[in-house]
Amino acid sequence: MALGDAQGGTQYAMGEKFAQLIHEKTDGQINVDMFPNGQLGSEQDTVTGAGMGLVDLSVLAINNITPFSPSVGVLTLPYVITDSEDAKILTQGEIGDQLIENTIRDAGVRILSWAYSGCRVLSNSSKPVASPDDLSGLTIRVPRNEIMIASYQEWGVNPLPMAWSETFTALQQGVVDGQDNPYITINAMKFYEVQDYITDICYIFSLEPLIMSESKFQSLSPEMQETVLEAGREATAYSYDYLLESEESIRQALVEEHGMQIIEPDNDESEWIELATSIWPRFYDSIGGEERLEAALQALGRDLD
Ligand code: MLT
Repeated sequence: MALGDAQGGTQYAMGEKFAQLIHEKTDGQINVDMFPNGQLGSEQDTVTGAGMGLVDLSVLAINNITPFSPSVGVLTLPYVITDSEDAKILTQGEIGDQLIENTIRDAGVRILSWAYSGCRVLSNSSKPVASPDDLSGLTIRVPRNEIMIASYQEWGVNPLPMAWSETFTALQQGVVDGQDNPYITINAMKFYEVQDYITDICYIFSLEPLIMSESKFQSLSPEMQETVLEAGREATAYSYDYLLESEESIRQALVEEHGMQIIEPDNDESEWIELATSIWPRFYDSIGGEERLEAALQALGRDLD
């Protein structure tokens, strides 16, 4: 099992739970070895690897699957998912099931489980940022993901797309000033060593699926496949509780133990929201049509207006 993040975050907690469950449920017939911290390659590389059957399992951020299966972009359009409850509704319902089929078709990988990591907040090493205008002069790293690149462009800056596995070093060496990821990930990756400020925006809720090579899955007996799916569902439930139990104390520790400063976005985040959501129509084709977004919003009790 490849994992993009270091130990100590939501990816590892969910991956470890899955490994433990599958070991127990198969009486030790399936054992999972875990390779955190991008040891098996960048998150995007592991999607290609799993599609080719070279990597069995990988836990990675959903935004790093979008380039291979664009319809999952509906989960990463800015300000669609605004909290953990929204995230649960979209991943554990009909929309999630459809996306699982799409990633098998497009990328040869099957989503077995979801880790819930919380809102992607914005960190930087230079100055307090409360409004999009404050981003001026900063170089921000983003994943190689068109939706995220477009969001920052609306906020007035050209972000630098870069693999996750290179991000800590780039922050440390000052190649980039900032990045966005959830509190739990910022803590697990020790970004507090190289970042001082966090802006508490919630433009994307970070979902981190466990994917399995579909060819590997198909090589298992039907009983074993069912066991794998069951372990995945249980690991998803575990991850949801893990987020609710740990996020607040980690947020506090970033401030109290690691000296980070948390800045609330100006005007209830309204400028951030207005600018970023203006990109939605540009991505209708890639997510499979405007009706996909409408369906997602409807599931969340909202509509396109
Ligand atoms: C990214 O920023 O590339 C990912 O969200 C990192 C992660 O998997 O935690």
